Amino acid sequence: MKDLFEKIYKDKGPLGKWASQAEGYFVFPKIEGEISNRMKFQGKDVVTWSINDYLGLANHPEVRKVDAEAGVAYGSAYPMGARMMSGHTDLHEKLQNELAEFVSKEAAYLLNFGYQGMVSTIDALVSKDDVIVYDVDAHACIIDGVRLHMGKRFTYKHNDIESLEKNLERATKMAEHTGGGILVISEGVFGMRGEQGRLKEIVALKEKYDFRFLVDDAHGFGTLGKTGAGAGEEQGVQDGIDVYFATFAKSLASTGAFIAADQEIIDYLKYNLRSQMFAKSLQMQLVVGALKRLDMLRTMPELKAKLWENTNALQSGLKSRGFDIGTTQSCVTPVYLKGSIPEAMALVKDLRENHGIFCSIVVYPVIPKGLILLRLIPTATHDLDDVNETLDAFEAIRSRLENGTYKRLSASVAAAME
Ligand SMILES: Cc1ncc(COP(=O)(O)O)c(C=O)c1O
Repeated sequence: MKDLFEKIYKDKGPLGKWASQAEGYFVFPKIEGEISNRMKFQGKDVVTWSINDYLGLANHPEVRKVDAEAGVAYGSAYPMGARMMSGHTDLHEKLQNELAEFVSKEAAYLLNFGYQGMVSTIDALVSKDDVIVYDVDAHACIIDGVRLHMGKRFTYKHNDIESLEKNLERATKMAEHTGGGILVISEGVFGMRGEQGRLKEIVALKEKYDFRFLVDDAHGFGTLGKTGAGAGEEQGVQDGIDVYFATFAKSLASTGAFIAADQEIIDYLKYNLRSQMFAKSLQMQLVVGALKRLDMLRTMPELKAKLWENTNALQSGLKSRGFDIGTTQSCVTPVYLKGSIPEAMALVKDLRENHGIFCSIVVYPVIPKGLILLRLIPTATHDLDDVNETLDAFEAIRSRLENGTYKRLSASVAAAME
């Protein structure tokens, strides 16, 4: 018999195998200082484009004050126990009610983490006779939720309504055979490429097919829609979303998440979400902090306006300088360049060391071979100086990429990787 660990000693996994070249720099970097548009990386000042603090709330003085006061008032333990047993409070309920009202749903329920919450939501919504149809580019938490499903599941091509219809036809036949129902899952905004899920078209398909619709709006909540209620509001179809999900980890700059739906659905989920029933309640400091952040989201529209001013300046600046930013329809700003992984590493090093620009880098296998994706997340804390510095830096790195500088620089890296 084999030692269970044998495979681990041999193969560190698709990302782990790059650890010796990448760790501490390209992955697991330590970005230090107060969360803002400019932070420190390895002792150097950098413009930070890799933090999902869309509205700039993370380090807002009012937020920091409320967080600190809540820490003093409640510590980090309260309340102890799962919601169902001993972890329920008035403030948890108040936050749920305010979130539900904000996203125009009857009720909401708090989740300790978006990831586990989404896994459990999918798990609780379906039984083995049901069929799940979901976008192939869905976030890992959706994929893991689907993995728990004992019944049939189909993926549709990313944001491709024709493919969704084809799969809905298959799912309908299957569900008629098993006697189950259909759950369709999309993201409100796809976090890598920034495209909005085609929620309007998907909701329109309800005329033709019988299904319930779950939307993960992690990146849309707070950034899209007239009031910031997300991609459903932006596309005018919030009512057609049966279960709405968002995390506190992005616009609300905190930890935690929620789902919102009709009262009867939330009443069911609250008794069936295993990751919440058997886990300690969201700590009070986070609940109080989320109430404050939600209040600011509602009452300070200038934060979202500033976010979009920066987003528009960055995206139109990149486009006018001939960069390919794909098909983004949100603040998520991808820049696609052509090059190998070693070239990408040399390029990002140049960007950070010589230009003081810190953004995330995505390469194969997350995106096709030969492509480099630099991902920028604008926030309300950025300013036009940050944008202009970044645009100049991007022009400089593009010309070095094109004249082969990074190929030469990376030759030793490439040799080491072979
Ligand atoms: C689309 C999407 N869904 C869910 C999550 C998970 O949320 P959380 O960080 O609250 O676990 C993330 C990442 O934060 C995300 O980008």
